[in-house]
Amino acid sequence: MISRIAIVDGDAGWALAEPLDRECYPPEAMATVIWRDVTWAHADKRVVVHGESGIVCHVGIYFRDGTQDGVSARIAGIGGVMTSPRMRHTGHAGNAMRRASDVMREHEIDFGLLFCEPHNVPFYEHLGWRIFSGEVYCEQPSGHIRFDMMHAMVLPLRLSPEGRVIDLCGLPW
Ligand SMILES: CC(C)(COP(=O)(O)OP(=O)(O)OC[C@H]1O[C@@H](n2cnc3c(N)ncnc32)[C@H](O)[C@@H]1OP(=O)(O)O)[C@@H](O)C(=O)NCCC(=O)NCCS
Repeated sequence: MISRIAIVDGDAGWALAEPLDRECYPPEAMATVIWRDVTWAHADKRVVVHGESGIVCHVGIYFRDGTQDGVSARIAGIGGVMTSPRMRHTGHAGNAMRRASDVMREHEIDFGLLFCEPHNVPFYEHLGWRIFSGEVYCEQPSGHIRFDMMHAMVLPLRLSPEGRVIDLCGLPW
């Protein structure tokens, strides 16, 4: 099978990712997901995997100046991880996640951070991420909130986040 990974601009790349998003999250699925009412940030970069029938896998990357225990930290968020249901379990998301980690290192990021549901935790642990046991705060239209509806996972890079509190200082991803 022919596939090619590319890094694209976040805004311009949404048109590429949108059909895959609709395929992975049809309205009946969106009605049930726990995070359906969250206001999300927009990705700064996107890792896209081109297959024979268009984009088959996507990983969004979000660059953010946040804080860890009140000290500035350069965070890279990961969100919108999805592979076409027709193309799962063939390594696409793993490859895209490793490429996203390379981008984080190129941007001298302190640590990566993502949110995920329990059934996906082993997938990310396999890629070097680990559950963050502290508290994560972010912004929503309602104000500054603790974001605890899903597990937060971190990828140590320049820093190993052992702290108690991470503040995204903006919308989550
Ligand atoms: C989670 C998701 C992105 C994984 O995508 P994927 O492309 O199937 O992932 P990969 O193929 O890289 O790896 C998935 C699993 O398949 C396994 N796998 C990889 N290549 C394989 C192969 N050739 N044959 C069989 N299994 C394989 C991996 O080892 C991994 O197993 P693990 O969970 O035990 O570690 C996909 O299931 C998805 O889009 N889910 C819906 C959206 C979602 O939940 N996104 C995550 C939000 S946090």
